[in-house]
Amino acid sequence: MTLPLSHPALSTTDPELAALVGAEEQLQSETLRLIPSENYVSQAVLEASGTVLQNKYSEGYAGRRYYEGQQNIDQVERLAVARAKSLFGVEHANVQPYSGSPANLAVYLAFAEPGDTVMGMALPMGGHLTHGWGVSATGKWFRGVQYGVRQDTGLIDFDEVRELALKERPKVIFCGGTALPRTIDFAAFAEIAREAGAVLVADVAHIAGLIAGGAHPSPVPHVDVVSTTTHKTLRGPRGAMLMSREEHAKAIDKAVFPGLQGGPHNQTTAAIAVALHEAAQPSFRDYAAQVVANAKALAEALLARGFDLVSGGTDNHLILMDLTSKDVPGKVAAKALDRAGIVVNYNTVPYDPRKPFDPSGIRIGTPSLTSRGLGTEHMAAVAAWIDRGVTAAGKGDEDELAAVRAEVADLMAAHPAPGLPA
Ligand SMILES: Cc1ncc(COP(=O)(O)O)c(C=O)c1O
Repeated sequence: MTLPLSHPALSTTDPELAALVGAEEQLQSETLRLIPSENYVSQAVLEASGTVLQNKYSEGYAGRRYYEGQQNIDQVERLAVARAKSLFGVEHANVQPYSGSPANLAVYLAFAEPGDTVMGMALPMGGHLTHGWGVSATGKWFRGVQYGVRQDTGLIDFDEVRELALKERPKVIFCGGTALPRTIDFAAFAEIAREAGAVLVADVAHIAGLIAGGAHPSPVPHVDVVSTTTHKTLRGPRGAMLMSREEHAKAIDKAVFPGLQGGPHNQTTAAIAVALHEAAQPSFRDYAAQVVANAKALAEALLARGFDLVSGGTDNHLILMDLTSKDVPGKVAAKALDRAGIVVNYNTVPYDPRKPFDPSGIRIGTPSLTSRGLGTEHMAAVAAWIDRGVTAAGKGDEDELAAVRAEVADLMAAHPAPGLPA
């Protein structure tokens, strides 16, 4: 393990923990991180999230707090809210949800009663746990009905969504998800929600940065509520936001606090404000476009190597690989790729005959590698490494995995990641 000289106080007070942070810095620096929900935050975002704002309790909202001494905190939160409203073009933003899952729970609290029917995409089809899936509180406390994608195309079947919505009359419909490689048609969902009399929520956790950067259509003109995490393509700290028109502001704010949470994490609010400022710069539009260009180039290179991709490719930052035809289970591939310095996650594919803990696919994406400055010219090499890693996984060829790891580390060394010690 390397000693984290960048954290002198931590190294003195708690060398054991400091060594773990140093080891993680080294791991993040040396490996090719392809998990599509991860990213590298900037040094500025890191610094904002490690400030004395951490020391302050601020239950309530700016100007309406239950604790005194909010002279600065109110301004921090107002700044974050104003930047969110400006970047996404919304009338209302709440920046307090601790993370994406509590943000979604707050949406249910605002618009549904326990036992009500709610609708979202099924988890194995690419939806998120909090979209009413059975093992989640959202599927236990509400009656979750679930739509999917077509088996032949891997695309959402809007006839099925409409039929289900009109039959079940859910109070809330979620669109968006966690393993969706294609553009989400918010207008089509909005038409269905209107017909069914449901509140439509776009969970854009994965694609918020692409929306902010103009590389994915915005849900704002179409939906009632936008829910997002701030730590994926948006490249902020681990947190979340709920955005809406003014008419839903009160219900959302009441649901977040006092409905679900206590004091906001002010250091996170500050870091969200910084990330939103960064995302409003012209360079972030270039970043978002490059994320998509890289994903498309990587998908093409993988297809050329005979990999099956769910829906045949990607429109965004994410690629879902079905390894069935390679005869290598997703988990075996993911663990072998990890040993090769390529970090992915194993994932179910739609209609997966295997179990969620041992599924057929792996999920990859380009937000992190794009933050390191990799471009389309590097994607053939990335696809070749994945191919060699999956093939080596099938054969148990550890020497080949070690060889790939060394090549990956060389390229990563030439492209330092933001926020990490050089
Ligand atoms: C679409 C979507 N919604 C919500 C979440 C939950 O976010 P968190 O992990 O911050 O609770 C995720 C996380 O992966 C997600 O992909």
